[in-house]
Amino acid sequence: MEYYLPIKHMHMLFAYLSALLFVARVLMDQVGYQAWRKSVLSYIPHINDSLLLTFAFLLVALGPWNPFAHAWLGIKLLLLIGYIVAGLIALRISGQVPVKRIAALLALAQLVGIFYLATAKPDIF
Ligand code: HEM
Repeated sequence: MEYYLPIKHMHMLFAYLSALLFVARVLMDQVGYQAWRKSVLSYIPHINDSLLLTFAFLLVALGPWNPFAHAWLGIKLLLLIGYIVAGLIALRISGQVPVKRIAALLALAQLVGIFYLATAKPDIF
């Protein structure tokens, strides 16, 4: 499939941008710089993440991947759900600072797990 590799590279590009945009927003939130919520950063990450997921589903549709047969992918999807939930809590406008910090750390840990599973594709079972 001649388009597979460019699709994978687009998925990777949006994945690295997604991580960068998340870390940038968490850092700005933690130092009290809330102006980002009224800037392009309030919507660019959503567009980026929609494209990330679009290319992800194309990879699954075109490639040999099945989350039930390839455990790394199944676990990656579970971590993705955890990352989204923790990320939403971490970036809430209101909320207690310690809770948001713990949520941010949990989101980052799951993001590291997602990148590890994606690149190493370990044979789990
Ligand atoms: C935050 C979300 C995600 C991140 C950060 C991410 C990151 C990555 C990265 C960096 C790679 C390239 C690994 C390599 O070096 O070979 C990759 C590959 C892949 N991703 Fe994702 N991904 C995410 C979400 C998803 C989702 C939701 C799916 C499926 C629905 C998915 C399916 C795949 C597949 C099948 C590959 C393997 C492509 C191949 O090696 O041929 N990803 N992902």
